[in-house]
Amino acid sequence: MALLLTGGTGFIGSHTAVEFIQAGLETVIADDLSNSTADVVDRIETITGVRPAFVCADMCDAEAVEAIFSQYDIEGVIHFAGFKAVGESVEKPVEYYRNNLLSTLTLLDAMRRHGCKVFVFSSSATVYGENNPIPYVETMQTGDCTNPYGWSKFMNEQILMDAAKADPSLSVSLLRYFNPIGAHESGLLGDDPSGIPNNLMPYITRVAKGELPHLNVYGNDYPTVDGTGVRDYIHVVDLAKGHLAAYQYAKDHAGTEVFNLGSGKGTSVLQLVETFKRVNNIDVPYVIAPRRAGDIAEFYADATKAEEVLHWHTEKTVEDMCRDSWNWEMKG
Ligand code: UFG
Repeated sequence: MALLLTGGTGFIGSHTAVEFIQAGLETVIADDLSNSTADVVDRIETITGVRPAFVCADMCDAEAVEAIFSQYDIEGVIHFAGFKAVGESVEKPVEYYRNNLLSTLTLLDAMRRHGCKVFVFSSSATVYGENNPIPYVETMQTGDCTNPYGWSKFMNEQILMDAAKADPSLSVSLLRYFNPIGAHESGLLGDDPSGIPNNLMPYITRVAKGELPHLNVYGNDYPTVDGTGVRDYIHVVDLAKGHLAAYQYAKDHAGTEVFNLGSGKGTSVLQLVETFKRVNNIDVPYVIAPRRAGDIAEFYADATKAEEVLHWHTEKTVEDMCRDSWNWEMKG
C-alpha cells in the first residue's frame, strides 16, 4: 500500500514526503518537474534514509496516471501538483483552469477505477475571497476570488465535495493553507521559485543575499498594526505535519472535511522583515511602494478545528521560519 504525492518534488510536497516517510508510510512521488528538479528525490533520501519511488508525469495525462495506479497499490492521493502563480493565472486563465482542474478529474477517474478512497487536496485561504471577517473559519462562505488561480482552488473544492457526495465511501480533505514559508532545517529542501519571486519570503532572502537591491513593501497605509499587510505565516514543516494528521484522520473517516492549516496569528510585512534581520543578523533594505493590486489588508486563520479534530497545531515560530528560510537560501 502506498500514498501518491503529486507535485511531490515541489516546496510543500517534498516536505510532506519527508514527514510521511519518517512516519513509516510508503510514498510514490509523481511530478512533471515543470517547477522543480529531480535531485529533490535524492535530498529526500538523504534526510530520511529511504528513497521514495519517483515517476516523472503530468497528472493531466490519463495514461500516465493509469500506469501509476496499475504499478502501485495506491491507497490515498495527496494532490499538490498545480500552477500557483497568482499574477500568471490572470494572464493565462485557460492554462490554469485546464491544468489545475483536469489533474483533479484525471486522478478521481483513476481512483474510482482502482478503488482508492482517500483524496487530500492542497487548497488555499484564497477561497475565502475578499469579504469575510477575520479570522477565517472553515464554515464561512467561499468564492469572490480575485484571480483564476483562486477560482481554480474554489472549483476544485466543489468538484471534490460533489465526488464525495456521489460516493459516500470516498474521503476528501480540503486543506486551506495560509502563507507557507521556512524550509527544512537540514537546508536540503526549501522554496526555489524561478525568476524574480512574487512572494514575500523568497524576495526577502534574495535581497539579503544581495541578488536584488531592495524589497518593495507593497503599501504602508492599510488599517493594520503598522500599515503593512498582515498574513498568517506557517512553517512548511508544520504544514507537512498537518498533511500527515489529515491523512491519518481521513483514512478512517469518509465524507468531506475542510481544515484551515495556519497558526492563527497575524504578522505584518515589517514585523517579518525585522524578525528576519534580527535572527539572521543581516540587513534587508526596503522601500515603501504602492499597494499591490488584489492584496487584502489582513487575514489569518481560526485554527481551532484542526486542533480539535486532527490534534494538530503549529509548533514553529516566525523566528524559526526566518532562520530556516535563510539557511536554505545560503545552502540551496
Ligand atoms: N509583499 C510585499 N513585497 C513583496 C511581496 C509581498 O510587501 O515583494 C507583501 C504583500 O503585499 C502581502 C504579504 O507581503 O501583504 C504577503 O504576500 P505574498 O505574495 O507572500 O502572499 P499572499 O498573501 O499575497 O499570497 C499567498 C499565496 C497565494 C495564496 C494567498 C492566500 O502566495 O497562493 O497567500 O492564501 F492564494
